[in-house]
Amino acid sequence: MENLTNIKDYEYSGSKVFEGAKDFLPINGTDYVELYVGNAKQAAHFYKTAFGFQSFAYRGLETGCKDSTSYAVKQGKIVLVLTTPFDPASEISDHIRRHGDGIKVIALWVDDARKAFNETVSRGAKAYVEPYEESDENGKVVISGIHTYGDTVHLFVERKNYSGVFLPGFTSWSSEYNPSDLGLQYIDHMVGNVELGGMNKWSSFYEEVMGFANLVTFDDKDISTKYTALMSKVMTNGNGRIKFPINEPAKGLKKSQIEEYLDFYGGPGCQHIAVATKDIIKTIAGMRDRGVEFLHVPGSYYDTVQERVGVIEEDMMKLKELGIMVDRDEEGYLLQIFTKPVEDRPTLFFEIIQRKGAKSFGKGNFKALFESIEAEQERRGTL
Ligand code: FE2
Repeated sequence: MENLTNIKDYEYSGSKVFEGAKDFLPINGTDYVELYVGNAKQAAHFYKTAFGFQSFAYRGLETGCKDSTSYAVKQGKIVLVLTTPFDPASEISDHIRRHGDGIKVIALWVDDARKAFNETVSRGAKAYVEPYEESDENGKVVISGIHTYGDTVHLFVERKNYSGVFLPGFTSWSSEYNPSDLGLQYIDHMVGNVELGGMNKWSSFYEEVMGFANLVTFDDKDISTKYTALMSKVMTNGNGRIKFPINEPAKGLKKSQIEEYLDFYGGPGCQHIAVATKDIIKTIAGMRDRGVEFLHVPGSYYDTVQERVGVIEEDMMKLKELGIMVDRDEEGYLLQIFTKPVEDRPTLFFEIIQRKGAKSFGKGNFKALFESIEAEQERRGTL
């Protein structure tokens, strides 16, 4: 069985070290993302069928876990853990009642979870869980955790002395239902939506408490339409493997998509997970076939895109047919597309991104993208 620790060679930033980042919290990459959901069995089926995730690990009644069930699914280096509680009075149930299905844990892979905890808590992080060890016949892991925006937490996972499939307590999960992989490789970035006035607070948190640097800032002039606006600061760790843009709503004529998120999520939380692919045309054709819904890009977008981005390798007609957007920066270009929210509350969604040299976030697409989101808000009556 493949071991998580030897598959995390990230392609994205190479060895580039971001200026301004500090090295007191070395992070190897994202370890996993855990969602608290109303029905983990069905959610796992959805992520397997629609997104091409593979059955990976399981914890539940059959493995001696009496209070919840978790399915871990995996694709490339991405691991999603889907957890449903049994006890209506549990903290997990309360999270689902308040937020709906959503991301609770953004787990970070570190070499020393005790040091990660001490370094961040001594700089002002609020402790979520003190360092503890869990072990089984495959060795031990050390886990600790701190709070971030809203009810979201970061767990630090130290797995250098562990060779099991995922984590102690989980058993390998194989299923007779195995829809094919759709080429998703790793998490490129994860975006947090925070309250009005919270962007600087939380970007400072990542800078001061976690040693991250501010890669780029977008103000309301960059990200606004006729009606709505938002501001964003992209925070990165030193090796660039972790990127957390932090969004806050800005004043506009109508309700911004960030306010809509905050209303429906019941406060700050993770807005989207951007996942990388090497072949976005193949990935998106597959996802569309399997029922994933994407934001609609107006056909007129493709009338001017060529002038903006110049020559690209992909067939523009194919991109138009699939609704894939393109943007260029000094270093190259990128292709990206956004799903509609993956639950009934207009909260968490996914971005699929293919980078061809570009290290940016698709600024040239912001306007078309936000107009498309507004059209959805209009339909929901929440604009
Ligand atoms: Fe994004």
